[in-house]
Amino acid sequence: MSEVESTTLTNTAATSAQGERAALMRLDHVTVEFPGRDGKAPFHAVDDVSLTISKGDIYGIIGFSGAGKSTLVRTMNVLQRVTSGSVTFNGKEISSLSESELKPVRRKIAMIFQHFNLMPSRTVLDNVTLPLVHERISKADAKAKALRLLDLVGIADKANVYPRQLSGGQQQRVAIARALIGDPEILLCDEATSALDPRTTRSILTLLKDLNARLGLTIVLITHQMQVVKDICTRIAVVDHGRLVDDGGILDVFAHPTSELTREFIYTSGNINKGLELVRTHDLFAAERDAGNVYLLSSVGQGAEETLMADVHRRYGVTGNIIFGNVDVIHDTPFGMILVSLEGTPDAVRGALEYFATVGVEATPLADVHVNETQAEGEDDE
Ligand SMILES: Nc1ncnc2c1ncn2[C@@H]1O[C@H](COP(=O)(O)OP(=O)(O)OP(=O)(O)O)[C@@H](O)[C@H]1O
Ligand SMILES: [Mg+2]
Repeated sequence: MSEVESTTLTNTAATSAQGERAALMRLDHVTVEFPGRDGKAPFHAVDDVSLTISKGDIYGIIGFSGAGKSTLVRTMNVLQRVTSGSVTFNGKEISSLSESELKPVRRKIAMIFQHFNLMPSRTVLDNVTLPLVHERISKADAKAKALRLLDLVGIADKANVYPRQLSGGQQQRVAIARALIGDPEILLCDEATSALDPRTTRSILTLLKDLNARLGLTIVLITHQMQVVKDICTRIAVVDHGRLVDDGGILDVFAHPTSELTREFIYTSGNINKGLELVRTHDLFAAERDAGNVYLLSSVGQGAEETLMADVHRRYGVTGNIIFGNVDVIHDTPFGMILVSLEGTPDAVRGALEYFATVGVEATPLADVHVNETQAEGEDDE
């Protein structure tokens, strides 16, 4: 079996395993409308979104600022009421429940935020036990449970200090312990690592992944950074102006992005911007640029670009010069992006491009490759 065939099979297997897992949270045609400001027409912060989050998913929601990510996720614990559509949790429609009916439901749907939202005047231990204040549980039991959770998130020794005495990463760990105290089934994370430096971000992502594996905790993770998605998410939804423009298993979306925005996020996260800048501006590449034969090739599951180049040379007499390359590993599968100039007759190059499509390699002409500069900068200075 060729490498390509085996990849396709693996992806299909992953997809059907996903299909068999029980749906935990389902949004059906959810729309959230806000009144327009300054006499403007009302607008849809969330626009007809349908999605399913299964038990055990780490579900990434990515989009630019103002895309509607927070509003979308707030419909999942009904902090935000939907204008139309419905939200179903564990098979039960929750979007039209009253505030008192929502109380027990919300215990199972926990949330953490970018700025941790801890009570500064209370100790770490008291912050963690706070959600249990009105529950039928003794103080001693609540304390014991909080201490177990603080141990689980790696800060057992901080129980008696105040939030201001902790680093950002430690404060987020307290927030996670507090979120877990009601034994939630799902944890909603709204930009939970955006205020943290890169190393702390990785440690918090590792903790979330660990909680997912150990407790079977389902996680929804809002981010504007594709790197976060690549690090831990099993599924991804891309949001643009309130609409879902792509969603699915992470490798499927990387292999077959359907929207420009998704492509942009993928290219940017592969540092392709650096190679693009070189090809587009440097004299060294003037000939390739002018010939109009520079392409970005991207593929899931194929490690060896050299083999691919050797193939098109043998089959079509096309020489592929690799200008820039990047390989990521997403869930143990290589994801490669290379910028190549293809040299050969127009017919031969066309043949090579058709061949790429048959082996699951996406080829995009240089002129159609767009990266987002602000996101690229954001990821650089992480
Ligand atoms: N309560 C509200 N009333 C009116 N408009 C709102 C309200 N909440 C959000 N919006 C608007 O809805 C749009 C989506 O906002 P939202 O906060 O969901 O975006 P986001 O993707 O989370 O952005 P960010 O990445 O900056 O957090 C924005 O234009 C925002 O100004
Ligand atoms: Mg937001």
